[in-house]
Amino acid sequence: MSAPRKIIIDTDPGQDDAVAILLALACPDELEILGITCVAGNVPLPLTQKNARIVCELAGKPETRVFAGCEAPLMHSLVTAEHVHGKTGLDGPSLPAPVMPLESQHAVDFIIDTLRAEPPASVTLCPLGPLTNIAMAFEKAPDIVGRVQEIVLMGGAYFEVGNITPAAEFNIYVDPEAAKIVFDAGAPLVVMPLDVTHKALVTKPRNDAFRALKTPVGVAVAQMTDFFERFDREKYGSEGAPLHDPCVTAYLLRPELFTGRHINVEIETASELTRGMTVADWWRVTTRKPNALFIGSLDADGFFALLTERLARL
Ligand code: BDR
Ligand code: CA
Repeated sequence: MSAPRKIIIDTDPGQDDAVAILLALACPDELEILGITCVAGNVPLPLTQKNARIVCELAGKPETRVFAGCEAPLMHSLVTAEHVHGKTGLDGPSLPAPVMPLESQHAVDFIIDTLRAEPPASVTLCPLGPLTNIAMAFEKAPDIVGRVQEIVLMGGAYFEVGNITPAAEFNIYVDPEAAKIVFDAGAPLVVMPLDVTHKALVTKPRNDAFRALKTPVGVAVAQMTDFFERFDREKYGSEGAPLHDPCVTAYLLRPELFTGRHINVEIETASELTRGMTVADWWRVTTRKPNALFIGSLDADGFFALLTERLARL
């Protein structure tokens, strides 16, 4: 068996972030989590770093290193999403406050030091929130960009357009300037937009399968999705909560579950109406250079089978 793939999860938990983290923690033979770096997004930084530690403890992995990063986007003030995720960001289950420590190093410095210390092209970055920490690291230490194995991120939309504005997806909208830095950086990039994540819906039978695990993790995941599905049901009339961020982890484990196109994706930063839009050249109508594998669909049953089977290991 080959060595596990080294990853850094950059995140703003968020119930779907939590499931993405749990899936990674459940797969130590395939994924080695070097650290979890937290960013302000769904809720402010003091809550995202706390929630990340709650999730590690829920998984029985308090030895996981968790770092706090940027508390605000590069140029604009923070926009949060309590309307989706609740006041704590992790509303739904009742989970104990974490006792495991927060690392003292800043997340941006951890990302830089790790990429410099590990062999070139051996560390994958997995951003699940606004791209502030990653962009800060690339700006502060441009030498690390060429050392990244791959960036696999959740963000953006093309066919599904926007969820926080008519044109923009939340993670990109919160910090478009950071997103532009990351999309322009030249590192290999895989993007999980709403186009695919809206197909990863927790229907009732899928949620029942989490609950039927009868483990603290299975029950908590079922309660989290119970809570945050109300937003998508009301807004889109969808069958349940979309598991946006776990698409990133699932792609690392089983890329064959996903299909997409290698295309050019640009970030709109200027327009008042479409700020944060991911302008994806899906139909290849420009000669702009492809910079991302932009995912469009997934085998949803395969995805949920993988998720449930792996969560059962925790
Ligand atoms: C993204 O925004 C957040 O609300 C979710 O955690 C996900 O990362 C979906 O637009
Ligand atoms: Ca997120």
